[in-house]
Amino acid sequence: VSTAPDRGRFASSEGVNQPRSASPAPVWDLIYGYTSYWALTAGLDLGLFDALADGELPVDALATHTGVHSPADLRSLADTLVSLGLLSTTGSSYVLTPASERFLVSTSPASMAALVRLSPGPLTAWPALADTLRSGSAAYTVDDDPGAFYPELVAATAPTQAAVARAVAVRLTELAAWPADAAIVDFGSGSGAWIAALLAARPAATAVAVELPAVLPSTIAGTETLGHRVRALSGDYLDVDLPIDHADVVVLAHVLRAESPQRAQALFDRAARLVGRTGVIVIADYPVPDAPADDETLHDARHDLLLALTMLASTRCGRGISTADLHRWSANAGMRIAETLTPIPRQTVFLIRPEDPTR
Ligand SMILES: C[S@@+](CC[C@H](N)C(=O)[O-])C[C@H]1O[C@@H](n2cnc3c(N)ncnc32)[C@H](O)[C@@H]1O
Repeated sequence: VSTAPDRGRFASSEGVNQPRSASPAPVWDLIYGYTSYWALTAGLDLGLFDALADGELPVDALATHTGVHSPADLRSLADTLVSLGLLSTTGSSYVLTPASERFLVSTSPASMAALVRLSPGPLTAWPALADTLRSGSAAYTVDDDPGAFYPELVAATAPTQAAVARAVAVRLTELAAWPADAAIVDFGSGSGAWIAALLAARPAATAVAVELPAVLPSTIAGTETLGHRVRALSGDYLDVDLPIDHADVVVLAHVLRAESPQRAQALFDRAARLVGRTGVIVIADYPVPDAPADDETLHDARHDLLLALTMLASTRCGRGISTADLHRWSANAGMRIAETLTPIPRQTVFLIRPEDPTR
């Protein structure tokens, strides 16, 4: 038996022949994805990005500001963050990069500082993912205690959702798709960001918000300046009694992907009945590619795929939604996807209207 490696292959340290072209870099990148995440989280927990918000600091001063016990250990973290593109250094001092200044300083309007912690969902879900896949259900999900997770999540995502909703309001007006006194229903209203932005664009409009009891205070706080224009209802959006039987706009923002296919379709159908032949359903979500998809499509969809996997890992029944789902549900209801918007990168919004809108 020859021990010489094949042409084009090499013997690894384990003696297993590997294709010469295969590199372990993608695997290391994923291992480093985990350690990089925690380096970023430590930076946030130490207030490192906030400490640099007013300008550069020498390493000793930065260690003092962040409470790190030695400048040498602070340098270990800060140099890693430089390598990740989140800090810049002259060697003796550190300064924010454009990305960390905009997205990691807690007082920035576009701050993602809180979202870094919350976006993966409960952290215990990830080491248990293989078990979840084997059994088909996660041991602990955000649905077990919505009040422990959603209020913080919706607060962290409110600025982004407000920006998306403002852009949607502009488009609905351009399309003459909503009347000046529009009646709006928002299922799973969270922070109230969508309602606040839509009502700001339509001063004669009113809204009904539906939220789970544990999260309803977030909606009430986020819309309190709108007074009687907003009615906030507590309950499951699938069966709560509504005070109106027609809506000009129904908002389903980041709710469908966390539901089972049956419940997601039932919620869509409820929205379709409310808008009838005249209104519009606004769906904000992260649609996964229609299956089966090719490599290139899937590479481009990493963000949406990972969010769908987050649903699998950490919700009771959520599996994400696809554009094909929306096409199918729309067709069943005599509706169609009239427009797909990307008001800001990675934020997809579908405007779903009746096949022959009478407005
Ligand atoms: C990801 S958040 C999105 C919040 C808001 N729509 C937004 O885009 O900012 C999902 C929201 O749906 C709410 N929710 C989940 N299940 C619900 C149910 N069965 N009935 C009403 N609200 C629900 C959650 O409490 C949470 O606030």
